[in-house]
Amino acid sequence: MSDPWQECMDHCIAVTRKAGEMIREALKKDISVMQKSSPVDLVTETDQKVEALIISTIREKYPSHSFIGEESVATGSSSILTENPTWIIDPIDGTTNFVHRFPFVSVSIGFTVKKEIEFGVVYSCVEDKMYTARRGKGAFCNGEPIKVSGQKDITKSVVLTEINFKENLDHFKTMMCNIQNILTIPVHGIRCPGSAAVNMCLVACGSADAYYHIGIHCWDMAGGAAIVTEAGGVIMDITGCPFDLMSRRLITASSRPIAEQIARQIQQFPCGRDDEESS
Ligand code: IPD
Repeated sequence: MSDPWQECMDHCIAVTRKAGEMIREALKKDISVMQKSSPVDLVTETDQKVEALIISTIREKYPSHSFIGEESVATGSSSILTENPTWIIDPIDGTTNFVHRFPFVSVSIGFTVKKEIEFGVVYSCVEDKMYTARRGKGAFCNGEPIKVSGQKDITKSVVLTEINFKENLDHFKTMMCNIQNILTIPVHGIRCPGSAAVNMCLVACGSADAYYHIGIHCWDMAGGAAIVTEAGGVIMDITGCPFDLMSRRLITASSRPIAEQIARQIQQFPCGRDDEESS
């Protein structure tokens, strides 16, 4: 039987590449930065232009499909996931990196049908690495198959996460305490390259063994979730329960023992859900 979503995926790869070219061009010019919800939540004209390009190009071909785009949600669009084919878009994942020209900047798109992720595309555009994964068909970087490290021993692992301060000192203290708990297991190290989508791809290709994060969004996770899963990785909620795309949190790892050990070490803090109308 032919694959009903392959054509969408091919279209997605083409538009993602075009978006990445736009971002590379923008990096050569002055970048003017605006704030969204807090002083560390940044947006640029390029985020908005790239999202507009992606949505208009896809909508032209698939007018009945739905969209959840980071910048559209920021200006009032809904982020409720329905059963309809849905494109979940982060035009620049790693806006802070983009603003500082720190080279982990990606375009991330995940595509869901009946709330299941069918494929993911993440283009780390400064590195020119195109990560792709179609459900059941494996994960690839620039066309070459990729797989997780397979590491099961957390004491031999490198773990990725994010450190930032979003105005709540209690949350920040929990975040720092979680880092201490992981570092003192001990692990080989913690790294914070930013761009959640790139972090997931680094786990997918075996450059890191795990990534956990509380407070990200479905558009940061959707593309990477497909890629890390198809690369043989494990993805779960930070409680150890099944992964929930709208929950704003995740653990992903090269193996279940590592993911479960991280789940035991970290404490939660409330971050809301993407499918709450007020979030
Ligand atoms: C952000 C990046 C960053 C993560 C933030 C995200 P954005 O996405 O993925 O690594 O720490 O939580 O919001 O805003 O640059 O698309």
